[in-house]
Amino acid sequence: MIEKHQTEPIYSIQLKQSSYVVGVAAGRFPYLLHWGASIPAVTREDGPGRPPLRAFEVADFPEGDASSSSLPVEYALFGGADYRAPSVLVRDREGAPRSTLELLESTVQSGPPELSALPGVDAAEEHLSFLFRVAETGLRLVLTYAALPEIDVVLRHVRLENRSDDPAAAYSVERLMSVTVPVEAGRGGAGRAPGGAAHQAAAAGAGAPAAGSGWELLTLDGAHARERYPHRTALRPGTTAIGSRRGSSSHRHTPWAALVPPDTSEHRGEAYGVGLLYSGDFLIEAEVDEEGACRMNAGLHPDTTRFTLAPGEAVDAPQCALGFSRDGLNGLSHCFHGLVADYLTPAAWRGRPRPVLLNSWEAAYFDVTEADILEIGRTGAQLGVELLVLDDGWFGERNDDTTSLGDWQVNRKKLPGGLERLAGGIHELRLQFGLWVEPEMVSRDSELYRAHPDWCLHVAGEPRLESRNQLVLDLSRAEVRDWMADWLTELIDRVGIDYIKWDMNRYLSNVGSAVAPAGRQAEVPYRYMEGLYAVLGLVTERFPEVLFEGCSGGGGRFDLGMMPYFPQYWTSDNTDAVSRLPIQYGSSYLFPQAAVGAHVTSVPNHQVGRSAPLGFRSMVAMAGNWGFELDPRELSEREAAIIRAEIGWYREHRALLQFGSFYRLENPLVSYSRESSWLVVSRDRSEAVAFWFRPFAEANRRGVRWRLAGLDPDRYYRGSYMRTEEVSSGSREEHDLGGPLSGAELMHRGLPLPPMEQDYAGIRLHLRADAHL
Ligand code: GLA
Repeated sequence: MIEKHQTEPIYSIQLKQSSYVVGVAAGRFPYLLHWGASIPAVTREDGPGRPPLRAFEVADFPEGDASSSSLPVEYALFGGADYRAPSVLVRDREGAPRSTLELLESTVQSGPPELSALPGVDAAEEHLSFLFRVAETGLRLVLTYAALPEIDVVLRHVRLENRSDDPAAAYSVERLMSVTVPVEAGRGGAGRAPGGAAHQAAAAGAGAPAAGSGWELLTLDGAHARERYPHRTALRPGTTAIGSRRGSSSHRHTPWAALVPPDTSEHRGEAYGVGLLYSGDFLIEAEVDEEGACRMNAGLHPDTTRFTLAPGEAVDAPQCALGFSRDGLNGLSHCFHGLVADYLTPAAWRGRPRPVLLNSWEAAYFDVTEADILEIGRTGAQLGVELLVLDDGWFGERNDDTTSLGDWQVNRKKLPGGLERLAGGIHELRLQFGLWVEPEMVSRDSELYRAHPDWCLHVAGEPRLESRNQLVLDLSRAEVRDWMADWLTELIDRVGIDYIKWDMNRYLSNVGSAVAPAGRQAEVPYRYMEGLYAVLGLVTERFPEVLFEGCSGGGGRFDLGMMPYFPQYWTSDNTDAVSRLPIQYGSSYLFPQAAVGAHVTSVPNHQVGRSAPLGFRSMVAMAGNWGFELDPRELSEREAAIIRAEIGWYREHRALLQFGSFYRLENPLVSYSRESSWLVVSRDRSEAVAFWFRPFAEANRRGVRWRLAGLDPDRYYRGSYMRTEEVSSGSREEHDLGGPLSGAELMHRGLPLPPMEQDYAGIRLHLRADAHL
């Protein structure tokens, strides 16, 4: 619900547990009055909910005043007296920055705002839009706000248009942010809430408490095979930033961040999240100014992405989702999990159980044959697997990673009956058939490259840098997009494919196009993303029943922008269960578990050489969308029996595991023993499954109490549990928890954990509310 003030351009966006109140001061400063817990709508000058700051702000910043650097503005153009990092930097033909906004119109309309071809949520029932003119130019700036009240998410979008009549009036856009968020509005900054990281650092003699250090920033950062570790840092004066210049959002940083006061925990306290619906170069920055105020920008990376805006042209920044919760970081995650699960995931896959898959990669690598894949499928089917995925190696002369990307014809030496016969054979086993592709790439050693050497991204005169022996196709070109959509569509149609793993195994470099219009090479990173989204949109809409899984060297480019195409994503090439604990824990800040691919693999593990027992590997992978990546023919009878039983257990609890509310309980990165815990709770809180792990035993540790979350405090639960080592030894006997125990007791007092004095300890606990109490 968006309510307008009687006379002023002030709007209250009312969500389930929060309010977002914006206005325009002095006709030119879009600014934030409040973002946080619900407050009454601001509708009248003299009535309840009168905007307390408005009068003072408007009076203090009259026309011509140079002090706008202190205003909590929602969007700022560089060039005036706001010296903070700007939202937009736009220069006219002479190179002068244009900075003055004039409000032309503010409206609330039903339905979602008009969005660009970039990914976006178009489900909102109404939206607010501000239309500004950039003074003395033909430039128009449209800021829109749409609300998803149920999940406390506000979606913001920005479009910059050149409506000049003068054909020579082109502008250069050197920076384009999706949002500027002055999160400090209404809150004291400096010294707030002692006890957090900043306060402790100061107490330890590390220096004076910094102005504005009342905020901490949580980001998800990593590398290949070590994706999305959570990092929480106290903000100091100046700018703290994450971003990507790699052409994709990358493994390094996820285009999402949370701003929290130091006393916010997983379960309590305010948390503000900013997530970009974009998968290319991005920047998220938090700037603490000289007055201790903090503001965030999130949008396109200005180092790599710039535009020329000729008359009649427009450019859109990616849509940005802002989430707020008072229930700590778990509460904030629920906002974003809801966004992914209920709004971004393709409609046909919302809440739809995901099959237990078996992937050929670690079983066969490039050495695939029809007979082997059928055998793997047959053995997998006997275990209870539901989907067999043929990974890399099936096409061209692809015997290693040096060749054939772009030549998407089946290799008849390996698969003499073609993909059709293989898919038929897999279907006869009552399995679904899935296939790996890497459509965005071309090997130098390929028919495609020999025929179209200018179809790859390149800059004339610069070397074409390879990574994993491959170049990137230029998706800004229409003929490349058409070629890609055509072969993919034909392949899926002809073969009868149920699942596609869409991989992307290198970053972009030399990002130029042979066909970009004169002077517009700096737009190519953005045009690439537009092109990619166009093909993804076309193919996934053409085959709504096909399950598409995203991948990028494991969990690179795992971001909100990919979620409208990929109901699930391969989280990391690192499949070691101990390594997976922090990767999955970090991923859970943003992504619901059904989106997070997690496979049980063989030991010694192929990435780190560790040999974790099967029960441990199986249970850890249940934090995500569960499957296998091993050669089932190599399992012993005992292992096969364990896996068969585990698949049975998983399928029985699948709906809860994949779609229940996810709560983080213990962070594996804080203790020597890597203790880690989480649970999923059904929507009606009648059922839950909780996991607790201690991969490395440590001497002389006092027993811990395992405190759960998300249960109904007033209901009583009965439970049964199994330990990892019992599963590993083949026992299926569930232990009775005793009880019934009240939800309040399970959450506030906790369960004393039995002694576990060996490595790879763990427990899986199933709880069900007692119908008789
Ligand atoms: C990437 C993926 C792997 C696998 C290989 C195939 O590394 O992350 O899962 O598909 O490519 O080459």
